[in-house]
Amino acid sequence: MDLRTLCSVLLLPLQILCCAVKAFVRFFIPGKRRDLSGDVVLITGGGRGIGRHLAREFAKCGAKKLILWGRTEKCLKDTCEEITLMGTECHYFICDVANREEVYKQAKVVREKVGDVTILVNNAAVVHGKSLMDSDDDALLKSQHINTMGQFWTTKAFLPRMLELQTGHIVCVNSILSLSPIPGTIDYCTSKASSLAFMESLTLGLLDCPGVGCTTVLPFHTNTEMFQGMRVRFPKLFPPLRPEVVAQRTVDAVRTNTAFVYLPWTMNALVILKCILPQSALEEIHRFSGTYTCMNTFKGRT
Ligand SMILES: NC(=O)c1ccc[n+]([C@@H]2O[C@H](COP(=O)([O-])OP(=O)(O)OC[C@H]3O[C@@H](n4cnc5c(N)ncnc54)[C@H](OP(=O)(O)O)[C@@H]3O)[C@@H](O)[C@H]2O)c1
Repeated sequence: MDLRTLCSVLLLPLQILCCAVKAFVRFFIPGKRRDLSGDVVLITGGGRGIGRHLAREFAKCGAKKLILWGRTEKCLKDTCEEITLMGTECHYFICDVANREEVYKQAKVVREKVGDVTILVNNAAVVHGKSLMDSDDDALLKSQHINTMGQFWTTKAFLPRMLELQTGHIVCVNSILSLSPIPGTIDYCTSKASSLAFMESLTLGLLDCPGVGCTTVLPFHTNTEMFQGMRVRFPKLFPPLRPEVVAQRTVDAVRTNTAFVYLPWTMNALVILKCILPQSALEEIHRFSGTYTCMNTFKGRT
């Protein structure tokens, strides 16, 4: 081993320690927050649920312009009107993120009519809430196309310009189910797990790109229409998150350039437990919390 390699090897533990200490300190004393006054934010699925709260939060935090994408005009229009009333310029476009051609076409329209997108929030998703055998093949494909592939197309459409401008942020509203899947929603968990891999790869891939960052948020069950009817065994012990809290934490993570956020923070324990406990112990935790059966009462909307 030459001297240079030896020095790098010896330095690595020190660098890791330094990063860990820095992250610990930043947890309590976050650095300067990004000023959003020059940012054009595009939110997929911005018409309702967490997307609508994200639009409100970005507007509250001073974003310059907001663009909402979705399939249902009424929700998009209502949210757009609300954001305009708040004093922030807002536009909406009908766009199915699963349709690659439509994404590229609408991205061009956005660039021409509104300007360069500097923050892209990949939030749109669907859940069917059925087991593998009960799902028809088209439904299984649909969730992969919307929840995973949709992000490929939107990111390909907007990232190149962010890299040119040396300013931009790609956000993914993922789910804790990407790390801890449950039965009864196998396609959703799979799509979220591949979406997490997509974001992990993108985050590392953008390391040497000045001004461009990534944020992935992994929330626990949140009180929107998406998982309506789902019942955990101890709702008082594991209450659903409020969508406004998810939105606040997401916008704050963008402003502090935080790469990964687990919501609530106690979900960090789940990640550690998954690495150290045997499968049988994990199964006991699932049995105790009722995640084996929580989708039996599901009656959400796709
Ligand atoms: N709710 C939860 O418990 C929970 C927990 C963890 C993570 N999440 C994640 O949070 C995000 C938002 O979920 P939510 O709870 O707000 O659900 P939601 O209320 O059902 O909203 C989903 C949004 O996605 C849009 N959408 C769906 N398919 C689309 C498509 N093909 N093209 C464009 N837009 C599409 C919907 O708009 P249209 O129907 O108008 O297209 C809607 O605005 C999702 O990524 C979800 O996986 C949710």
